[in-house]
Amino acid sequence: MNGRVAVVTGGTGTIGTEICKHLSTMPSHVIALCRPRAVDCRTAEWMSARKSEDYDMEAMECDVTDFGHTTAVFEEITRKYGRVDILVNAAGITSDATLRKMTLDQWQSVLRTNLDGVFNTTRCIIEGMLDRGFGRVINISSVNGQKGQFGQANYAASKAGIHGFTMSVAREVARKGVTVNTVSPGYIESPMIMSVPEDHRAKILAEIPVGRFGQPSEVARLISFLAADESGFITGADISINGGQHMG
Ligand code: CAA
Repeated sequence: MNGRVAVVTGGTGTIGTEICKHLSTMPSHVIALCRPRAVDCRTAEWMSARKSEDYDMEAMECDVTDFGHTTAVFEEITRKYGRVDILVNAAGITSDATLRKMTLDQWQSVLRTNLDGVFNTTRCIIEGMLDRGFGRVINISSVNGQKGQFGQANYAASKAGIHGFTMSVAREVARKGVTVNTVSPGYIESPMIMSVPEDHRAKILAEIPVGRFGQPSEVARLISFLAADESGFITGADISINGGQHMG
C-alpha cells in the first residue's frame, strides 16, 4: 500500500473528520474510529459522505474506554492494512459541572474516554511502531488542560494528564523514530463549543485576542504537519492553537 496508515479516534466528529481529510492527502490510508452508538457514529453514512467528496476512507466502531475492544479493533486494522504508522487520539467528551455538583459518574466517564482511551490505543500500536522504526502519535488535549476552566475539573484533569503521558512516552520511544506530541486547541467551532450556554460562550469569545473561534481545518492542518515524515525532530511538545487565548 502506498503512503502511511493513519488511525484517528473520534474520527467521525467535526474536528476528527477534518483531520481525516487532511491526513488522507499526505498520502495516507485513513481509518476513522468512533464510539459505538454515538450520534455521529454512523460508519456507513460517514464513509459514503466522504466518498461523495472524493475521499476513500474507512470508519470503524471502537470503544476506546474498553481495552479489550480496542485491542480487537487494532488487531483487525493490522490484519487488514499491515500496520499503523500514525495515531491521532482525538476522541474526547465533556460533562461540565462545578466540583460541588459533579457526580462520580461525570468524573469517571470523562477520565475513561479522554485519558484511559489514549493509553488503550497507544498501548496497542507502540510495539509495531518501535519494530518498524517509524511512528507518529498525536494526542489532542485542550487549552483548558493548560489553564483550567470553571466547571471542568474532570475535563481539565484528563487533558492535563494527556500531556504528562505524551512527554513520558516521547522520551521512551525517541530513539526509535517514533514521535509523540500533544496539540492543545482552544475553542474551535464544533458541537462541543455550541453546547456551552450562549452567555458563557460570549464571555469566552471576548477572551480570545484573535476575536473568533478556531476552524476545525486549522487544527487539522497542524496535525498533518506533525504527522509528516519530515517532522521527526518535534517530539514531547505541547503545541497550542487557541487564537492567543492562553500564551505560555
Ligand atoms: N469564573 C468565575 N465564576 C463563574 C464563572 C467563571 N468562568 N462562570 C460562572 N461563574 C459563577 C457565576 O457567576 C455564578 O455565580 P453566582 O452564584 O454568584 O451567581 C456561579 O459561578 C454559578 O455559575 P453557573 O450558573 O454557570 O453554574 P451552573 O452550575 O449552572 O453551571 C457550568 C456550571 C455548567 C460549568 C457552566 O458554568 C458552564 O457551562 N460553563 C462553561 C464551561 C466551559 O467553558 N466548557 C467548555 C466546553 S468546550 C471544551 O471543553 C472544548 C475545549 O477543549 C476548549
